[in-house]
Amino acid sequence: MPIIDNEALMAAAASAAAKSVAGNNATDLLMAPNQVNAQVDTSVGVDLTTSYLGLTLRTPLVASAGPLSQSVESVKRLEDAGVGAVVMYSLFEEQVRYDQEQRVRVVEAHANSFAEALSYFPTEPSTANSETSQYLDLLEKCAKSLEIPLIASLNGTRLGNWTETARSLQDAGASAIELNTYLLPGDFTLSGAQIEQRHLDLLAAVKSVVSIPVSIKLSPYFSNFGAFATRLDLAGADGLVLFNRFLQPDIDINRQEVVSGFELSNPEEGRLPRTWIAALNGRVSASLAASGGVEGYRDVVKGILAGADVVMTTSALVRHGASYAAELIKGLRSYLNREQLTLTAARGMLAVPKTASVTDYERSGYVSALEKAKRRYGV
Ligand SMILES: Cc1cc2nc3c(=O)[nH]c(=O)nc-3n(C[C@H](O)[C@H](O)[C@H](O)COP(=O)(O)O)c2cc1C
Repeated sequence: MPIIDNEALMAAAASAAAKSVAGNNATDLLMAPNQVNAQVDTSVGVDLTTSYLGLTLRTPLVASAGPLSQSVESVKRLEDAGVGAVVMYSLFEEQVRYDQEQRVRVVEAHANSFAEALSYFPTEPSTANSETSQYLDLLEKCAKSLEIPLIASLNGTRLGNWTETARSLQDAGASAIELNTYLLPGDFTLSGAQIEQRHLDLLAAVKSVVSIPVSIKLSPYFSNFGAFATRLDLAGADGLVLFNRFLQPDIDINRQEVVSGFELSNPEEGRLPRTWIAALNGRVSASLAASGGVEGYRDVVKGILAGADVVMTTSALVRHGASYAAELIKGLRSYLNREQLTLTAARGMLAVPKTASVTDYERSGYVSALEKAKRRYGV
């Protein structure tokens, strides 16, 4: 004989009564509301459409530059899992410069050849197997196979002809360019202002050759990061990606060696990007991307609540596979559904209020956190 759950019956009856009062004649399910929710995922209808760099993305989860964009199959897997966009791994200034120099060498070799020997050389100097052309080739194939935007990543620090490659990235099908200015200032004669200017010049150089949006992926190490971010915004950066992860080598004391140690990230690393996203939200018109430290859907939610337009992830997808993006998106949807929030309402909910002074807001948070910590850890 089946066991009858009295509570469930009562809840179903109450629900049916409420519907009939509301004029809804639909027959109710013989199930408590919590049991109904367990079976029907009511979050599937939650709209996650997002605007990033002026592009419309279906979700605010973006696969950041990394190893999962090294093949068409892999980027397709990311798309199938629901990411809103994919940033390709970086094409480096050093690679482009090398390829350009090789090209010049081939041209010069032609110029010095005897006329009768020319037929032995290809008519067009070829750098077909160069890193640059391989990158462009893959970019073109990926862009053709994807319905979501593909963002190319150009990575360098010095001005020069190499930045013109941005145009080829656009021609190959990139929807936008992420300029990664990974620079550890080793020239101690340079001032902070000069380093900032170099970033601005690089941004201007890339923007001058393309019509697609350009974002810039930054380090947090500027003496007044907010002021610098504002300058980049005014200079036309379409997006700020916060932050680059610096390679901080470790030391193996037994082998007495420096070890490169590019490990995958941990969730603690999401705090610094979120701090700056929360401060910049509503204060710049560039899109804001939180990058670093996503492990579970809660980290995605935190980025949105801080005010990120998109949340980026690499380590989590490397750890769990491309399909894990679907878990992260499902978690975000369920959260919004549970909290009865739209994505727009949630975005920036915990940002520094527009009317507040960022300095005072952060400082009061700092003082009260220290007070709490003293009570907690004090003797
Ligand atoms: C294996 C690996 C390769 C990466 N390659 C690139 C790259 O080519 N260009 C780039 O801008 N960032 C690259 N990154 C950095 C990521 O885009 C991201 O900024 C960083 O991993 C922090 O995000 P996460 O915590 O979600 O991993 C790479 C990261 C990893 C782990």
